[in-house]
Amino acid sequence: MSDKRAWWKEAVIYQIYPRSFADSNGDGIGDLNGIIGKLDYVKKLGADVIWLNPIYKSPNDDNGYDIADYRDIMTEFGTMADFDRLLAEAHIRGLRIVMDLVVNHTSDENAWFIESRKSKDNPYRDFYIWKDPKNVSEGDTADRSDPKWQDEHAPNNWESCFSGSAWQYDQTTGQYYLHCFSKKQPDLNWENPKVRDEVFDMMNWWCQKGIDGFRMDVISMISKVQSYPDGKVNDGVYGDLNPYVCNGPHVHEYLQEMNRRVLSKYDIMTVGEAAGVTLEQATHYANNDGAELGMVFHFEHTDGGQNSDAMIGKWSVNPPKLSYIRSTLNKWQTGLEGKAWGSLYWDNHDQPRAVSRFGNDSPEWRVRSAKMIATCLHFQKGTPYVYQGEEIGMTNMHFSSVEDCNDIEERNAYRQYVTEQHMISSEDMLRCFDHVGRDNARTPMQWNDGPQAGFTTGTPWFTVNPNYREINVEQALADPDSVFYYYQKLIALRHKLPVMVYGKFIPLLEDSDSIYAYRRVLDEEGAGKQTITVACNWTDQKVPCSLFDDLQGEELITNVDSHEKGFLLPYEARAILS
Ligand code: GLC
Ligand code: CA
Repeated sequence: MSDKRAWWKEAVIYQIYPRSFADSNGDGIGDLNGIIGKLDYVKKLGADVIWLNPIYKSPNDDNGYDIADYRDIMTEFGTMADFDRLLAEAHIRGLRIVMDLVVNHTSDENAWFIESRKSKDNPYRDFYIWKDPKNVSEGDTADRSDPKWQDEHAPNNWESCFSGSAWQYDQTTGQYYLHCFSKKQPDLNWENPKVRDEVFDMMNWWCQKGIDGFRMDVISMISKVQSYPDGKVNDGVYGDLNPYVCNGPHVHEYLQEMNRRVLSKYDIMTVGEAAGVTLEQATHYANNDGAELGMVFHFEHTDGGQNSDAMIGKWSVNPPKLSYIRSTLNKWQTGLEGKAWGSLYWDNHDQPRAVSRFGNDSPEWRVRSAKMIATCLHFQKGTPYVYQGEEIGMTNMHFSSVEDCNDIEERNAYRQYVTEQHMISSEDMLRCFDHVGRDNARTPMQWNDGPQAGFTTGTPWFTVNPNYREINVEQALADPDSVFYYYQKLIALRHKLPVMVYGKFIPLLEDSDSIYAYRRVLDEEGAGKQTITVACNWTDQKVPCSLFDDLQGEELITNVDSHEKGFLLPYEARAILS
């Protein structure tokens, strides 16, 4: 067997977006004590690890991804004492806690940046990326507070991932700083060894507290091409930044340094969010030699190809195509084999709800299709991630006005493409938000059919999806056929069957336009050969399938009451161990 065993390869991760998970004090905002109150729920599901989205002190321009103090807790979420209790209570239950590490950028309210912007010779100046205005003729007396002037003289044409220029002019020193995300998220300058010292110190500090790992935010973007060249215009929102920011010249060097100075000293798991990562690159980031990270998240199945007919950038209303999803995931499954470990996910806090996007969220098929996509993913090779609410089949939201949206990515896109540039109508933009907006994942967790879905006794910070009366945890726990118990079973199977974790992935039926099928095979000395055969019908039609006709074995799981020989029923999924 080529894979070295590790606890985090055998684990299932449950992702919590704290703001929307559970509110303990009625202020309408989820908090750490709320999470503590739900640890038994996560344990019941069977997950091993909780990944917390950022809980650090933050002005919340991008819901915590703009960190003002890495060693303090966001006021609304609680205190460091609450965190210590959360960690202890999790550990008592055998649950581990993974923190979000956001070090490509900080908040502009971080002490480092407050210093940095004061003067060109401030000791923190080089903690960030400052550049002079471009093409300014000598003696130019133009009014530099004019946004048009600032636009025209930006150091290059890079666009922020959240729309608009990636450069912000700062009056105090007459230079621009780089922000790949919002202008309240200035990028750190990783070329500066002092930045790396500070970041690694801070990471060691958290590790010494006893946390169990890091999910590293846009870690593939920390090393920029130092000549800061213009990007190709109209190359899509991420397009401009991609070749100069993603997988940059020193990214592997910096991660190896991080590994030497921090990661290798602890028994922790790491997963890098790797915007723009290719399969080849991933075999470096997550190589089995353990020199960098444990695994990475790639985005090929959630953006990219299926959006080639998108309206603008990522904004699309097109359902993903099975052929694209399958060829992409299969490519990663077979491409990582023997080289690097992978991660498995359908959704997270940046993606629409899994069942709405990949399954079918109509009342008729929601439950069955949610189980189908879960089957399809959880039998693959890699560490699975379950995003809060996915395990009860929570769905996308409908947004009827931009006023209803909270997400900075959505609000900026609306301002730029609808209000300023008239590139798309308001209705079309809102339909895009319904389909792929990040707000879909951020509506409060639906705990029961009471007021505010049991998320808060006060006024929730963000709208509860009106379908909470039908879709909620209480209902799911009362129904033995619920999506919840199906996930519980999938997770238990993974814990029981080494073939589900370490088995080699073998694609099947690669030309089918309705079925996603594959095998996992593990041939272990002493244990004999084990094979799991999986088939999932991605359509609402009954389709011919003879895979199981002559297959003897134990049915591990299925989402239908009875099978029809030679067919798969609409959204049917099956896995057989032989
Ligand atoms: C990552 C996070 C996302 C955030 C962005 C900037 O993509 O997942 O939520 O907005 O980085 O930090
Ligand atoms: Ca609260």
